[in-house]
Amino acid sequence: MPKETFYITTPIYYPSGNPHLGHSYCTVATDAMARYKRLKGCDVMFLTGTDEHGQKIELNAAKENLNPKEYVDNLVSRFRKLWDIMDISNDRYIRTTDEFHKKAVQKIFRDLYDKGEIYKGNYEGWYCTPCESFWTETQLVDGKCPDCGREVKLTKEEAYFFKLSKYADDLLKLYAENPEFLEPESRRNEMISFIKSGLNDLCVSRTSFSWGIPVDFDKKHVVYVWLDALTNYITALGYGSCDNSDFQKYWPANVHFVGKEIIRFHAIIWPAILMALDLPLPHKIYGHGWLLFGDGTKMSKSKGNVVDPQILCDRYGVDAIKYFLLREIPFGSDSIFTNEALINRINSDLANDLGNLVSRTGAMVEKYFDGKLPETLQKDDMDNDLISMAISLRDKYESYMEKFQFSNALSEVFKLVSKANKYIDETMPWALSRDPQKTNRLACVLYNLCESLRIISILITPFMPNTAPVIQQQIGATRDAVTWDSANKWGLLPRDAQIKKGAVLFPRIDVQKELDELNECIK
Ligand code: MSP
Repeated sequence: MPKETFYITTPIYYPSGNPHLGHSYCTVATDAMARYKRLKGCDVMFLTGTDEHGQKIELNAAKENLNPKEYVDNLVSRFRKLWDIMDISNDRYIRTTDEFHKKAVQKIFRDLYDKGEIYKGNYEGWYCTPCESFWTETQLVDGKCPDCGREVKLTKEEAYFFKLSKYADDLLKLYAENPEFLEPESRRNEMISFIKSGLNDLCVSRTSFSWGIPVDFDKKHVVYVWLDALTNYITALGYGSCDNSDFQKYWPANVHFVGKEIIRFHAIIWPAILMALDLPLPHKIYGHGWLLFGDGTKMSKSKGNVVDPQILCDRYGVDAIKYFLLREIPFGSDSIFTNEALINRINSDLANDLGNLVSRTGAMVEKYFDGKLPETLQKDDMDNDLISMAISLRDKYESYMEKFQFSNALSEVFKLVSKANKYIDETMPWALSRDPQKTNRLACVLYNLCESLRIISILITPFMPNTAPVIQQQIGATRDAVTWDSANKWGLLPRDAQIKKGAVLFPRIDVQKELDELNECIK
């Protein structure tokens, strides 16, 4: 039977500055979801990339005396390097400057024009360059861009328009019939009122700058960046090129993860374009919240916190950063990032709870049994709670993961970590070890701890892909004992497993000393 497919995307990032922790956030979440689906046996396509055209990039490049392509090449390599460092498991990386993408966008534009979905007209409006958005007089707030509050410029130009307005009813019907199309629900309500307040046709070409994909039948126009960018989700699969087999296989996307400020483009413009092209719509758009920095803005110059993901990964390890991002911040909400919260979370959950459990367990099996448990295990009723919690964990975790509630999924896993630590205190292996009559009981306690770790290690794989195999190696788990199917079963760790104590997984951090050192990094 062919595997179930799962297609997931991040937004494509503007390479207009260095990648920061806010960019990592969505990519890390997408990575966790992709890894989770692979663990479950799906055929996953995980796409990310960079959105490289537009006036802002053109202006930034000019400031640095570079041509736009040189400018983006340099920044794109920093994004890609970061994803390497962060062990991001994307299957594909699209750059909107890729030749195949440019050709496909030109074809899409032409098809829409031929179908009468795009027409030529005149545009007069207020343009916000950083947002690459046109606004009408009434949409401005105090004469400024309603999205970012920055200056706008009065612009008049001949332009092509996409007949967005005619899709208002179809979009409202889409939301009404498929409430799961846009989540969380609060975002859906915002979009519904936005549509109800009236949709204008969308200006989809520009003549005021040249860094874009030329409209191939009217070369003085370049394609509007958002039309160029949104279509990446299908061009990356070969749509509009000679080989569209991946498009056939993976489209429609299961989910597009996007930040809350770009939901409007994904939940209104994108489905309307797909409708105009007679293509199926993605199953879901999920709008996540923002990581807020220092002064409560989405991203600003660091105010007392290190937000360079590379520095943080170097100091604490990639897995700790990924864990923090997805454990601390509920995916749909905003949350303030501080170095202190990061360090505290690493200390409490990773060093104290998980790290300790792993090292105590390995150390005890080595100390009492030289790394190999005896055949006979003596059970006790007091084991039942731990075992039933462990085998029921996978289903709870799954239901949270399917709803992208990463923080809740991890919190369930860490309940088992705490329970296992408590089980050590209750069973007191050190006391059992002093009584030769209790050797088989001691062996059973240690086996139960290793089994709990086996299940924990499977379920943290999507979040901490480097840590999970280290734990699995320490408890001597075989490959077939660390599959998704084995995560709700007890007793799969081979009885003759060679168990050993390894290096400390997450060293405890001295909070004050560390904060002082981090402060030095941002000076
Ligand atoms: N290029 C467009 C997206 C086109 S998708 C067809 C764009 N790029 S962006 O680089 O400005 O933002 C990309 C994503 O990063 C957005 O989803 C945005 O919400 C996210 N983030 C940027 N800073 C962020 C935080 N501080 N916190 C969380 N996510 C944030 O928009």
